[in-house]
Amino acid sequence: MKVLVVGGGGREHALVWKLAQSPKVDKLYCAPGNAGTASLAENIPITADDVEKLLAFAVVNSIDLTVVGPEAPLMEGIADRFQAAGLKIFAPSKRAAAIEGSKALSKDLMAKYNIPTAKYGTFTNAEDAIACIKEWGAPIVVKADGLAAGKGVVVAFDEETAIQAVKDIMEDNIFGDAGSVVVIEEYLDGEEVSILAFTDGFTVVPMVSAQDHKRVFDGDDGPNTGGMGAYSPAPIYTEDLAEEVQRTILQPTIDALRAEGRLYQGVIYAGLMVTAEGPKVLEYNARFGDPETQPIMMRLETDLVDIIEAILDGKLQNIEIRWHEESAVCVVMVAGGYPGKYAKGEEILGLDGLDNETTTVFHAGTAEKNEKIVTAGGRVLGVTARAATIAEAIQSAYATVEKISFKDAFYRKDIGHRALNR
Ligand code: AMP
Ligand code: GLY
Repeated sequence: MKVLVVGGGGREHALVWKLAQSPKVDKLYCAPGNAGTASLAENIPITADDVEKLLAFAVVNSIDLTVVGPEAPLMEGIADRFQAAGLKIFAPSKRAAAIEGSKALSKDLMAKYNIPTAKYGTFTNAEDAIACIKEWGAPIVVKADGLAAGKGVVVAFDEETAIQAVKDIMEDNIFGDAGSVVVIEEYLDGEEVSILAFTDGFTVVPMVSAQDHKRVFDGDDGPNTGGMGAYSPAPIYTEDLAEEVQRTILQPTIDALRAEGRLYQGVIYAGLMVTAEGPKVLEYNARFGDPETQPIMMRLETDLVDIIEAILDGKLQNIEIRWHEESAVCVVMVAGGYPGKYAKGEEILGLDGLDNETTTVFHAGTAEKNEKIVTAGGRVLGVTARAATIAEAIQSAYATVEKISFKDAFYRKDIGHRALNR
């Protein structure tokens, strides 16, 4: 079959890499892809949010299955458009994906169906939001309602910071329309873990656990980024906790969405805080996480096409999904200056011959230029290794990182430290 992967980051390279191993796949395309996907798929110069062009491409080229990476096309209704044209696509519908697109909607859904989450209020004017902050006191969390590229959340340890965040979001519109509604949330203390799950709208099958590192500097310091690395499994995620999350969060979420006329087929990502009172939802994403997907795909044994086909047939309960017992770690190499200003077009050296059975250098912001591979984004590479223990996987990933160089390359030296400390 012919498969199209939509997106061009590290997550999409990991998806292309896994799909390329399926005996069912004859031809892979990636739109727009990167220099890494180019070695396994044909890159197509269409951006991930250009749904109409993607649809036209899929029709003309008789694509049998489309797999969507990023959130933007989901919110544009890519699944609905492709399905209306009779094309198979692995992505939730626009109504289902709204669980990521609107924090207010996801909080209301959790409240209505008793899914554990932080206490919250939703506000359409700054004065009321500020009154809530004064009433609840710090620490407190301020969130822009809509999509803000992961930057729409301010965890404030004093009231002034929280009030300033409300003013920035609602009066200065720093996130545009995404900030016309603001959510104020109780601060949750605990350890974070990400659970991604496959679902056909009825059955929910969690993947192995993972945790990313959002801050740019060692020791979880500095500004938030798209993710500086990730590891799987997260040791905090014991069997008991997994059972509790399935029973109190994952299954109720999918059942609630279905009950609300938002049948959910695809990957659902629950960002959780494991608090003293148990796991609570921080956020949902309607897609694979980036960079969590890189270590998760390195641990997936089952053919991803088989899983996707089972989901699209509504028969997820019939398939057994197998995982490597080993751990996996992804260290992201970024362009110096990221998440602020950074250079592009720097030649990347040392990439040849690094990939093997247990190590893969997933590309993110890379491009080919004059037969050289150059940097083309903030997050450049996700060096991912699998090994018997987290400690060995960390060592192996860093050994590979040290063989790669480009001007002003930067990476965290402590990916996986929380897993090691446990
Ligand atoms: P979100 O995009 O909602 O996942 O928020 C981004 C990050 O902000 C999370 O990964 C947490 O580290 C932090 N965060 C979000 N909500 C809360 C909360 N209620 N309490 C504490 N930290 C939070
Ligand atoms: N790594 C977090 C995300 O994909 O949203």
